[in-house]
Amino acid sequence: MKRLEAKVEFVDKIKSDVFLLMFKSGYIAKSAKAGQFLQLKVDKRATILRRPLSIHKINGSSVYILFRTRGRGTLLLSRYRAGDALDIIGPLGKGFTAPSAFGETSPLRGGHPTSCVPRILVAGGLGVAPLLFLAQKIRHTEDRRQRTEDRKEKHIVLLGAKSKKEVLAESEFKKLGFKTLVATDDGSRGFKGTVTELLKKQLSAISRQPSASIYACGPKEMFSEIKKIIEPYPQVSCQVSFEQFMGCGLGVCCGCAIETTGGYKKVCKDGPVFDLQEIK
Ligand SMILES: Cc1cc2nc3c(=O)[nH]c(=O)nc-3n(C[C@H](O)[C@H](O)[C@H](O)COP(=O)(O)OP(=O)(O)OC[C@H]3O[C@@H](n4cnc5c(N)ncnc54)[C@H](O)[C@@H]3O)c2cc1C
Ligand code: FES
Repeated sequence: MKRLEAKVEFVDKIKSDVFLLMFKSGYIAKSAKAGQFLQLKVDKRATILRRPLSIHKINGSSVYILFRTRGRGTLLLSRYRAGDALDIIGPLGKGFTAPSAFGETSPLRGGHPTSCVPRILVAGGLGVAPLLFLAQKIRHTEDRRQRTEDRKEKHIVLLGAKSKKEVLAESEFKKLGFKTLVATDDGSRGFKGTVTELLKKQLSAISRQPSASIYACGPKEMFSEIKKIIEPYPQVSCQVSFEQFMGCGLGVCCGCAIETTGGYKKVCKDGPVFDLQEIK
């Protein structure tokens, strides 16, 4: 982790309130793990605290952040232009236990080699932000000899959105060889219903598989739904990326503590990625 300054290359409007920002940093590109985040100092006068934002994807030394404007900090960030200086601390936190090496065994349940485990990425709305970087990591550490069609059968991403206009990053996951399924609340694209209902359907379809690893990010209510859904499947593990208000982002202030089965834990230091079974 380092404090560094980088120049914004661009900030593109993706949807009415969703923006993609890119800057270059060889250090972050080399050292970041999927699920880690950056603390950005947006405007020294307007916002005191830094804002935590996930690493969305990395191409070469280009680092991308996908964000929704929620309040003052993200609104100001959406107005950054090419050449503006970004004050960054990162990469921070504990990321997903992704396949760091081919044949690595899962530390979660079952102990199957992770290379044999189908992976299901579940994104609720902007929860897609850290999952694309995870998909990149999975893709790059897979057996490169594997045919794209085999990968499609094995790895799935479920994208949840209110309507078809709000579906994010679909083509990017497809390019990485993921089978991409969409759930919309209003049924304007794909499955009509929530992304967790779609997950339930998918799991019943693959329940003969020895194991599956789920990686999820989205609103907190989504996590309790997933917990109920995977209960009948002891061979299915799930890691979730947790969003919480943050103060320092460095493990100092305790402002981000949540209660887990192992006591209070700091989202910024012990997370933001947790095993779902740990979350109370
Ligand atoms: C580890 C982590 C990774 C994140 N990654 C992303 C990302 O990739 N893209 C993205 O758009 N957002 C992400 N967030 C949420 C993002 O940090 C907040 O949206 C942002 O800090 C809001 O700042 P603001 O000044 O615009 O809003 P504020 O004026 O500070 O708050 C406006 C509203 O935003 C919500 N909010 C504020 N801070 C948070 C927070 N930390 N978590 C959840 N809700 C919050 C609250 O509802 C609040 O009322 C992440 C949060 C965490 C903890
Ligand atoms: S935000 Fe300060 S300890 Fe986590």
